[in-house]
Amino acid sequence: MEEKLSCVAKTLTTSPIQQLSFLAQRCNAINLAEGFPDFPAPLYIKDAAVSAINSDFNQYRHVQGICDYVARNTKEMHGIDVDPDTDIVICCGQSEAFAATMFAIIDQGDEVILFDPSYETYDTCIKLAGGVPVYVALDPPYWTMNPDKLEKILTDKTKALVLNSPHNPTGKVFTKDELDIIAGACRKWDVFVVTDEVYEHITFDNEKHLSIASLPEMQRRTIITSSLSKTFGVTGWRVGWAIAPSSVASAVRNIHIKITDSAPAPFQEAALTALNSLPSYFDSLRSAYQSKRDYMINLLQRVGFEMEFKPQGSFFVFAKLPETCLLSDVEFIEELIRRAEVVAVPGRGFFHAHPSTKYIRFAFCKSEDTLAAASERISRLVDEKGYLTLF
Ligand SMILES: Cc1ncc(COP(=O)(O)O)c(C=O)c1O
Repeated sequence: MEEKLSCVAKTLTTSPIQQLSFLAQRCNAINLAEGFPDFPAPLYIKDAAVSAINSDFNQYRHVQGICDYVARNTKEMHGIDVDPDTDIVICCGQSEAFAATMFAIIDQGDEVILFDPSYETYDTCIKLAGGVPVYVALDPPYWTMNPDKLEKILTDKTKALVLNSPHNPTGKVFTKDELDIIAGACRKWDVFVVTDEVYEHITFDNEKHLSIASLPEMQRRTIITSSLSKTFGVTGWRVGWAIAPSSVASAVRNIHIKITDSAPAPFQEAALTALNSLPSYFDSLRSAYQSKRDYMINLLQRVGFEMEFKPQGSFFVFAKLPETCLLSDVEFIEELIRRAEVVAVPGRGFFHAHPSTKYIRFAFCKSEDTLAAASERISRLVDEKGYLTLF
């Protein structure tokens, strides 16, 4: 029956990343691959989840308080007025919010613009919805967006553009100038922007996250997706949301109800407690991740990576293998697992139309102990000059 699977399903195979994860597990490697913390979530939000379970929040549920918070926060952070009753859909994480949005706006053959490199799941969701991903390369080393390249790729078939800032895998935060250019192009071609803002609270060096929805005439064509996952280190809770003009939000809600009906009830209750955290929580989140970023960058620089671009947000470093390194990204990771018992992600999975096999993504959302142990193991592989023998 395999031949009867859908065309998109047939293209989905075990990725090199998953294969390396299996190898890493067998070797008991330190995991700098996965984009989630290995340290505990804040106790007060876990207590709220336990209390919600004990209070028998066991059924399908829509916790309006989340929408009220999201509306308030959107106003405070971006100056945008959002109606909590009509413009917000609570979903199972950003992932479902994004997928439901694609099903809501994409027809067969519609083109959707993505930046290259980008987070892997967008491509599949777009294809499952019948759309055609079209890629614009971001230019290394600073991952800048070239307006001419963007303009060339827009056509009357373009339905939407996906914007992830802060950006996985590069850690780039799109500048106001870049957002102005994207906004101008989307207005000109009458295109939706679907944003992924899951790292909205994780920015460094006074870099500020700006939502494109706040630019002139953009709110009506922007669907913001985000979640609790990264901000509170609870990727398994599956609580996220889409924010859109009411007619679009209503379509996304109808699709969400058909796919999952509701996000997990007890975790929606706990989300209320999390989202209403004191401002100091968000400040300490940023400064803790900034220290981890600096630690990771220092380690990588010390062993011979040229770190031209310092991540401005998210919790990833996307490091280029030096010219002297003859290994591909996958070969480098295989060696790193075997010889240092550390795993990270080969960058190739993030590139689509503009392939590269020379980048490694290191996640630094790990405890100080994990980072120190990784540093100790990686440092074992250096030559007399202090550089990795793999280079
Ligand atoms: C850019 C980006 N978007 C979305 C997600 C998934 O978010 P969620 O857990 O809310 O589905 C991730 C997880 O790694 C991510 O890196």
